[in-house]
Amino acid sequence: MIDAPTRRPAQPPSRPASDTPLRVLRVDSSSRYDGSVTRALGDHFTDELRRAHEGAVQVTRRDVAQGLPFINEAWIAANFTRAGERTAEQTEHLRQSDALVSELQDADVIVLAVPVYNFGIPATLKAWVDLVARAGLTFRYTADGPEGLLRGKRAYVILASGGTPIGGEIDFASSYLRHVLGFIGIKDVTILGAERLNTKREASLAHAKQDIENAVAALRRQIARAA
Ligand SMILES: Cc1cc2nc3c(=O)[nH]c(=O)nc-3n(C[C@H](O)[C@H](O)[C@H](O)COP(=O)(O)O)c2cc1C
Repeated sequence: MIDAPTRRPAQPPSRPASDTPLRVLRVDSSSRYDGSVTRALGDHFTDELRRAHEGAVQVTRRDVAQGLPFINEAWIAANFTRAGERTAEQTEHLRQSDALVSELQDADVIVLAVPVYNFGIPATLKAWVDLVARAGLTFRYTADGPEGLLRGKRAYVILASGGTPIGGEIDFASSYLRHVLGFIGIKDVTILGAERLNTKREASLAHAKQDIENAVAALRRQIARAA
């Protein structure tokens, strides 16, 4: 994690106080560093954001490709024990998960940079999802069904694929991420993709960069309107 922000209550991105920066959580998940398309497009997104907001952007980075633990029996038992009743050991089991949830709670904008792996998301990103989907913290069960608890946030998912059309029937990454982000309360999700890089690399990259620039400009306008 770099550029860690100081903790303060989450605020809708549509109504930032004029003197506070836009808080962005960027999550990378490609196992590649050299030549990674999603990392390069993630850089483009945050560079554009900084340019549009004249630098008033605070980026927290989380690189899940560096490794996250999978949830296990002890973690599940700790998670389903009330906060005040957990043993010191159980509290420790949840420490990293708590930190990942805090990063989400503190962000106005979430940027997920995601390669399509085997028609879905990287296992490391699924580990992140398992660690942040926490009953009582990011969602809760009500008489009417589950309710997401993360409010006033928007997410941008930057996908890259070799041959799978993004948004098509066999792209389970887009549909899964849109659903699970909505489940924890982030309903405003924009999918931006560099698709089918194996066959139309240059056109696809140019298209993705343009889509990113348009998305950042649209966000800037929305924030300006709400200010
Ligand atoms: C393990 C692995 C599995 C992949 N599975 C798919 C796939 O199911 N569909 C697809 O279109 N591309 C697939 N690809 C290609 C990647 O999505 C593509 O290379 C993308 O650019 C990877 O993102 P990155 O450049 O940020 O690493 C796969 C690549 C790897 C390494």
